[in-house]
Amino acid sequence: MNIDTKILSGKEVATFVYRNLEAKIGDLKKEDVIPGLAAVLVGEDPGSKVYVRSKTRRFNKLGLLSETFLFPADIDEGSLIHEIQMLNENSNFHGILVQLPLPKHLNEKKVLHEVLPQKDVDGFHTENLGLLTAGYPRYVPCTPKGILEILKYYEILIEGKHVVIVGRSNIVGRPLSILLGLKRKFGNATVTVCHSRTPDISEHTKRADIIIAAVGVPQMIGADMIKEGSTLIDVGINRVKDDSENGYHLVGDVDFQSVLGKAGAVTPVPGGVGPMTIAMLVANTVEAASRTI
Ligand code: GUN
Repeated sequence: MNIDTKILSGKEVATFVYRNLEAKIGDLKKEDVIPGLAAVLVGEDPGSKVYVRSKTRRFNKLGLLSETFLFPADIDEGSLIHEIQMLNENSNFHGILVQLPLPKHLNEKKVLHEVLPQKDVDGFHTENLGLLTAGYPRYVPCTPKGILEILKYYEILIEGKHVVIVGRSNIVGRPLSILLGLKRKFGNATVTVCHSRTPDISEHTKRADIIIAAVGVPQMIGADMIKEGSTLIDVGINRVKDDSENGYHLVGDVDFQSVLGKAGAVTPVPGGVGPMTIAMLVANTVEAASRTI
């Protein structure tokens, strides 16, 4: 057991994606269309603030429009819905994202449903999730889409492979399970979804060709839970407290050090899936803008 584990750099794939998007963005600008994103942020969740800042920073770097609409944590549902409806009507914004999680008193399902499906670049509206489930994807949620791009870029075969997804969230696990199982090129996988009620997760992960770890449990997947040569995609971004200046460092759901030498390939944290989520948000927003001309 000493495989030369390949590190799958999401940063590298994201650079490739941006290079390909430049031409499309240039064409849109010739038509006087600048792809625009409205980011809706409610409250002061530190993680959410960091994510939204990274997203808007990337839009600005690419010469695109992005604006953050920050609302107090105690905003009432009716007011938030009204704000979203105004953004729906604002033609400067081709995409709208509502950063999750929302404060507990807000009904996430109801709020997400207010985003115009044509502007739903996160792919969280039930219309877009329905299209994906039926096999006609329109806006695919950014993290699942980014994971697929990493697998494509590194030519990791999906068809006929056994993919085990750990986590069934609406943002990652569930849409990804549908996407990988679609009857199409870069689909056709046999997919198992494990979750908090799965009695023995390692029983499944040990048989997987590809493992997607998306549970938010620091370093949960170690070498003892995987098959030799398997591909590990780590979606976890967990803050672990330490004595550094920030007071924390980031670790994934995979125990990165322990799987080196046994896994065939693994995404690092940071620099793996994270940059791809942002790249796919840009791609979806550019697509939304293209649909308006
Ligand atoms: N919270 C965690 N991931 C995401 C994401 O991809 N989009 C939004 N809007 N919120 C999130």
